Amino acid sequence: MGRGGLLRRVGLIRGGPPVGYSPHLSSEPVHPAMIIAIDGPAGAGKSTVSRGLAKALGFLFLDTGAMYRAVALKVLESGADPHSETQCRAVAERHRLSFDSAGKILIDGTPGEPDVRSKRVEEIVSAVSAHPRVRAVIVARQREIANAAHGVVAEGRDTTTVVFPDATLKFFLNASAAERARRKALEVGKPEEQARIEQDLRRRDTLDSTREHSPLLQAADARVIETDGHTSDQVIADMLAHVRAAGAKS
Ligand code: DC
Repeated sequence: MGRGGLLRRVGLIRGGPPVGYSPHLSSEPVHPAMIIAIDGPAGAGKSTVSRGLAKALGFLFLDTGAMYRAVALKVLESGADPHSETQCRAVAERHRLSFDSAGKILIDGTPGEPDVRSKRVEEIVSAVSAHPRVRAVIVARQREIANAAHGVVAEGRDTTTVVFPDATLKFFLNASAAERARRKALEVGKPEEQARIEQDLRRRDTLDSTREHSPLLQAADARVIETDGHTSDQVIADMLAHVRAAGAKS
């Protein structure tokens, strides 16, 4: 049996082209239908690391948060009520979400950046993304996008548990609240606000892990990566080693 057949039998390949080679991983084979799911608390560096990992592997970066932000943006623009599940779901169903080759969100084919990062969106995205019927629409679209891609790095709080429970590899990126606050304070250029930011993060952690729908949970089969004291490049290199090992085992 060929390599593709074996991979398919153990459930690692979901159709798509035969085994390929990533230009960034020397000559080691990486099967192209891999789904790598990355989860973790706010501020653990998920976004930078996931984007970097996707780039290194030549995979699609599936920024699940950007999809909820896109729905929130369209809720605002259409004058829908962010607290109405019915209205938010109708908005989610009305627009086609996808990603460009750089992993940036497209709404009906039009770039959603930078509007999806606006303060107005920030204020309502939590309410919009909490509606189970909105989540159902978005999760279905996430799976559709992953099925059509030849390899995906999916980042977001429910990707390892709800969206892709059978992902080839799962990572839970962690960092202490103090370290996450330190990074965030540096990022926004306000080191003096580290203590306040740490308090906010701890509050968000509690909210995220206790909310009713798709709370932040650590999948039992996720590899926990502690990022305190490591640069994003070091974390990506560590993850690439796991990806190679997963490829070698299959
Ligand atoms: O990761 P982010 O800040 O871009 O996420 C934006 C919002 O969407 C935030 O309120 C968390 C929510 N979200 C979610 O509910 N499920 C996901 N898989 C990703 C993000």
